Amino acid sequence: MIIKPLVRSNMCLNAHPFGCAKDVERQINYILSKKKQKKISEQKPKIVVVLGCSTGYGLASRIAAAFEYDATTIGVSFERPGTETKSGTPGWYNNMAFDKAAKEKGLKSITFNMDAFSDEARVQVIKQLQEMGVQADLIIYSLASPVRTDPETGVFYRSVLKPIGENFSGNTIDIISSKFSAIHVEPANQEEIDNTVKVMGGEDWERWITQMQKANVLASGCKTVAYSYIGPSLSHAIYRDGTIGEAKKHLEKTAKHLNSFMKENVAGEAYVSINKGLVTRSSAVIPIMPFYISILYKVMKRNGSHEGCIEQCERLFSDRLYTGGSVPVDENGLIRLDEFEMDPEVQKEVAETILKISEENLNEMSDFKGFLHDFYIIHGFDVEGVDYSAEVDRLDQL
Ligand SMILES: NC(=O)c1ccc[n+]([C@@H]2O[C@H](COP(=O)([O-])OP(=O)(O)OC[C@H]3O[C@@H](n4cnc5c(N)ncnc54)[C@H](O)[C@@H]3O)[C@@H](O)[C@H]2O)c1
Repeated sequence: MIIKPLVRSNMCLNAHPFGCAKDVERQINYILSKKKQKKISEQKPKIVVVLGCSTGYGLASRIAAAFEYDATTIGVSFERPGTETKSGTPGWYNNMAFDKAAKEKGLKSITFNMDAFSDEARVQVIKQLQEMGVQADLIIYSLASPVRTDPETGVFYRSVLKPIGENFSGNTIDIISSKFSAIHVEPANQEEIDNTVKVMGGEDWERWITQMQKANVLASGCKTVAYSYIGPSLSHAIYRDGTIGEAKKHLEKTAKHLNSFMKENVAGEAYVSINKGLVTRSSAVIPIMPFYISILYKVMKRNGSHEGCIEQCERLFSDRLYTGGSVPVDENGLIRLDEFEMDPEVQKEVAETILKISEENLNEMSDFKGFLHDFYIIHGFDVEGVDYSAEVDRLDQL
């Protein structure tokens, strides 16, 4: 079969196996080139658990840990497998490509396709570490999900992307037609806010760390990092000051007491890293983000400061977590990888441009083409070096 992208409501419903594999290879090659240039610090991760390992920031973190630092990686993600005739989700192919490349390099990798919010997933990861007779020295928490079942109560929670206290009105853009459309979102009620915090806040991260500590699978000096986003004021109504922002604030608060817990129990540390806004499967559906990211790309590419997930994660490891010294943080204890995005000059230009953008000048005022390219790449389409006119025999393998 010939595989073409199926896009509906800014979501791509299928994936190209070879394109996904090729993009994993590109990220690995980037890391290998950095490894050659950099002096690796003595203090480095050896056993790394990545929760949300299959796409976006989690995949890039796993690639950096394995291919720059030779770490053994245990990954957990929740992906739909491909069948002979039906496409799986991109992360399913990414995991296969990662495991294959790791094996070829002699690196140990174990991948679980499980609900990371469940206690069963924690049991499996702990059992795996115990069987290997090792302890984890880094746990990356990179889950992005619209739903979560609380393992304590069995209650199923759904998050919402809504403003708090006031309506949100803005434009969004259709990926296929490039047409703008007005969106209007009513403010969330308290239950919706609480549910979003339940899904994307710090509760599940804390459960991972405390259960792993109890099982004695955290190494002395172990670090744990969860990812968050702040972004510019123009997105605050829907993001930072909205329901998802409440969840992220909860995650950041959780980092504070997890940091004390880690210090006390394993002489370890817990951080939240504020990363750059990028096109991932999660961010493409957030209103305003396609505009903001397209303009941001244009400004940052011109300045030479543009980065993708892999560049961000490489910097997180080499310039923040494993420098040989203490981890640099801001006045709120947060790791900042968004400093180029939040540069006042960059933000001034983006804020001015977003007011002028229209369907007619979209490609001139922004890098919407770059946004689209990244959107397709994360599903294995539009990847350089892939022959998309070639037949794919089956969709359950690479
Ligand atoms: N994309 C951005 O612009 C951006 C910026 C800063 C921070 N972040 C943060 O980075 C983190 C990762 O986001 P991303 O954009 O890389 O998302 P993504 O959609 O690319 O990845 C999400 C990962 O979570 C996994 N996942 C989801 N539900 C799961 C479940 N129940 N069990 C196991 N795995 C599950 C997926 O399989 C995937 O591996 C999030 O916390 C996000 O808020 C994203």
